[in-house]
Amino acid sequence: RRAGKLPGRQDWSSWPHYQAAAAGFRGYWYPVCYSSQLTGKPKQITLLGEKIVLIRDDGTAYALKDRCPHRGVPLSEGNQQFPGTISCPYHGWTFDLATGELKAVITDGPESPICGKVTQPTYEVAERLGMVWVFVGDGEDAPPIDEQLPEELVGNAAVVGSRIQPRIGNWRFACENGYDEGHAKYLHRTSLWRLFKAMPVWNETRIVQRGRWIYRVQDKQYWTADFPGLGKWDNQSWFKLKPPKQTSNIGNTGSHREVNPVIAAQEFPGFASVSMPGVLRIAYPTFIHYEFYVPVDAENHLYVGVMADFRKGWRTLPFYLKYLGFVRWLFHGQFSAQDKWMVEVTDAPPERLYRPDESLLKWRKLAEDVTEERTERLKADGFEPAGPPV
Ligand code: FES
Repeated sequence: RRAGKLPGRQDWSSWPHYQAAAAGFRGYWYPVCYSSQLTGKPKQITLLGEKIVLIRDDGTAYALKDRCPHRGVPLSEGNQQFPGTISCPYHGWTFDLATGELKAVITDGPESPICGKVTQPTYEVAERLGMVWVFVGDGEDAPPIDEQLPEELVGNAAVVGSRIQPRIGNWRFACENGYDEGHAKYLHRTSLWRLFKAMPVWNETRIVQRGRWIYRVQDKQYWTADFPGLGKWDNQSWFKLKPPKQTSNIGNTGSHREVNPVIAAQEFPGFASVSMPGVLRIAYPTFIHYEFYVPVDAENHLYVGVMADFRKGWRTLPFYLKYLGFVRWLFHGQFSAQDKWMVEVTDAPPERLYRPDESLLKWRKLAEDVTEERTERLKADGFEPAGPPV
């Protein structure tokens, strides 16, 4: 059932688009902050290495390149002098928030001849899941954000708990860590989250693709293993959880017999799945956990963890108790801190992969193929995609 032999030493050159995407893949929407954090006060973010100023005006969020074309001062150091605009703090160049057009130059008078001759680059902005999302592309129109969000989050009522945390390390290490098969069983064996979710020692796993997602399908789980000459290892050394009955393809069913109808309707082939541009989806029977690995630059990323429970009305109340009572601390906190640690200390390739790393290889291949397809499409439409393969 395993795909052929794994290649030996890897240096990422087999995946030129992936290798070139140190600062992220262009052509996608990325969550950058909570909606509640964005006010009329300009806020600077860095996304895919680009400095961007965000601001809210009359309820709508806007994003512009955060470098005044006059002398290079960040517009995020400025403020609003006129509705619907932002003014640079240095000489008062004033840009329209929606179009980026230079509307006024305060220090050159109302008839300033440069007005209308300069346009500041803008970014498309959307708000979903209580967060602000920014599209970074190569000049093409942004696709509707709902086409990029996990399908089940569009059109289904869900109560959501989330965490946004700036982290050190390349976003690709973070994504690979999230989808990495082996680390859940070994690195996380000491996490308190596992008081609730038992883990086998190892799995027999296949990776299957459905639509834009690739899934880890656990064909068989081994709860103990005898290592010749070394002894037995059972991954349950400091507490005892009964191995769950594998009642569906959704892993770690734990004590739950019922699968939430929205989750059941998705018929996920596997427990863990990943899609472009680095979105992890872990389906539990009653909720789904997502991780968005947002490239800040080549050395930093934003960890955005989202837990969605598909309930509505008064039934959402127990979720808040559960999320704020322990999930936030055990899962988005202590468990996730172990991942943060590994992403910080992982060294760049070369690397020597082993059997469970098939998940990494399939993710890189997905990223490569999707990017190749996008690059061809953009070129055909007359756009020049940034970051050509080396
Ligand atoms: Fe922005 Fe002069 S640098 S107005």
